[in-house]
Amino acid sequence: MSNFHIKHLEEYFQVYRKSVRNPEAFWEEIAEEHFLWRKKWDKVLTWDFNTPEIKWFEGAKLNITENCLDRHMLSRGNKTALIFEPNSPDEKAQHFSYKQLYEKVCKMANVLKSQGVKKGDRVCVYLPMIPELTISVLACARIGAIHSVVFAGFSASAIASRIKDSDCKIVITSDGSFRGKKVIDLKSIVDQALEECPNVSKVLVVKRTHQPIEITKGRDLWLEPLLKEAYPECAPEIMDAEDPLFILYTSGSTGSPKGMLHTTAGYMVYTAYTFKNIFQYKETDVYWCTADIGWITGHSYIIYGPLCNGATTVMFEGVPSYPDFSRFWQIIEKHKISQFYTAPTAIRALAKEGVNFLENCNLSTLKVIGTVGEPINEEAWHWYDDNVGQNKAPIVDTWFQTETGGIMISPIPFVTPTKPTYATLPFIGVQLALMDHQGEELKGNQVNGRLAIKFPWPSMARTIWGNHKRYKETYFSTYKNMYFTGDGALRDEVGYYRITGRVDDVIIVSGHNLGTAPIEDAINEHPAVAESAIVGFPHNIKGNALYGYVILKDTGESRRQDNLKNEINQIITEQIGPIAKLDKIQFTSGLPKTRSGKIMRRILRKIAEKDTSNLGDISTLLNPECVQDIIDNVV
Ligand code: WT7
Repeated sequence: MSNFHIKHLEEYFQVYRKSVRNPEAFWEEIAEEHFLWRKKWDKVLTWDFNTPEIKWFEGAKLNITENCLDRHMLSRGNKTALIFEPNSPDEKAQHFSYKQLYEKVCKMANVLKSQGVKKGDRVCVYLPMIPELTISVLACARIGAIHSVVFAGFSASAIASRIKDSDCKIVITSDGSFRGKKVIDLKSIVDQALEECPNVSKVLVVKRTHQPIEITKGRDLWLEPLLKEAYPECAPEIMDAEDPLFILYTSGSTGSPKGMLHTTAGYMVYTAYTFKNIFQYKETDVYWCTADIGWITGHSYIIYGPLCNGATTVMFEGVPSYPDFSRFWQIIEKHKISQFYTAPTAIRALAKEGVNFLENCNLSTLKVIGTVGEPINEEAWHWYDDNVGQNKAPIVDTWFQTETGGIMISPIPFVTPTKPTYATLPFIGVQLALMDHQGEELKGNQVNGRLAIKFPWPSMARTIWGNHKRYKETYFSTYKNMYFTGDGALRDEVGYYRITGRVDDVIIVSGHNLGTAPIEDAINEHPAVAESAIVGFPHNIKGNALYGYVILKDTGESRRQDNLKNEINQIITEQIGPIAKLDKIQFTSGLPKTRSGKIMRRILRKIAEKDTSNLGDISTLLNPECVQDIIDNVV
């Protein structure tokens, strides 16, 4: 009998060794005993990192929503599955039992069917953090449709490119969204996006803000009356283990966003198993992850992981600063949260406001507190440990990626001793490697290199939607027979890992993964801009902020640079979203380039960080003379 729940360090090492020595036998045992299958697999794992092809539990038949919902009906049908905490503390929280959530998902699934959605169709979900978001995601999975959730902070053109890339025929959205004091007009953003997407034939609209919206006849439908009429039972579509479950877009260092494709069985097994262990979830706990469901953290650790374990999961519509900076702590007290999972950028923003916002809140129910999304600095780690965990609830610093589906490096609380700023040890089944510049694996401890993964794990993305070649090139071509993460990391004297940050052109701003290329493309659309380069620089709240070097066209006319800066940020907001706005803009006459014309972002990064002590050998550049000029005019 396999143990789903690891309880001490010796057991971790024992289980880890077993999972590495015989991964197939290990994952088979986990899958066998803890999930509901319509048919068991013929083969646990087929893999080849060259093609690359990865299949887990081939031949198995299941529906993930039967594991998230149906299976709990008898044992915990009246237990709360989902708590919705609205933006305004004056609006009542909503509790959905497993039975109620089951009915809502079935109704939504029937509505989707009645609108012609079939197994394998792509459904774009562009919703704020309201219950209908979770319900829509599960409804898609119920009928075998592939959900593509687009974060509701993205702009019209960002939605349009995602809809077109995966050819979604239907969009689920709302009239608007509440965020702190703001009311955002989501529907008109969708309307604008759809001007470019003629293949979208239906838009289903949730009523949330009650603001007036434009209805396009024949295309737009209010969801409420459809749901009211819908039948509360919907037989699950029986899926193959490797049938697609969802697409989730993530930025790359070059080109358009990548639609990472996740499949059914492996994703389910891994997210459920990691959730249970990394949050040490117990039956009566109330778990809250503050991420947005528009990111992988929300998919895996608000919806699928918790619900597969029969947990009570909280979703929060609002922001940490509204009505004031005590909101998170108020929510923890109100719902007696046991596990709290957030991002370093939120921790830093809250720490800046001082401890007086925490002082009158009872946080004693917390057992485990987590962080994810970017490296956490020492100061923020200690603030979190002292004030939120109160040195009792251990911090789990969890490293993973949209591509990995589930958490790959993390302490197991009460099992792995924590160490500030360290994600500590690989999770069960995860075989890490640190690589040097020559592409050789660094053996032993106290080494620093690039992080790669040597063996498949069940929840890894299987391809990039519509572009398998790019999947291979991005992740499997840097090191032979390994998955390359794009991150740097070090391993300390006891084998603990610390993630040092991206080694490519991806910049993490407030936990949002932003590629330089799409931002530069947006800036370059400004008629006065000839060329641009974006780098990250350290920012004490956001982790990194964006610094843009911009070369203007020589038009002879003199323009107010302040206006230009606003206009550039306006274009970025329109094309990507406000999260990608530049904090600093420097107008320059040249950008350092290699002889092959590649912009040397490493040099620009150093200058933006105001560290010009070691720029390396710049004599090999195409245009070394521009470097001093850039240094002299740094903002
Ligand atoms: C990148 C993936 C996976 C959660 C949301 C982000 C960075 C993630 C950590 C951590 C240091 C982290 C990495 C990674 N990252 N977690 N605990 N410590 N860095 O998902 O948008 O796909 O971004 O986020 O750089 O590669 P994502």
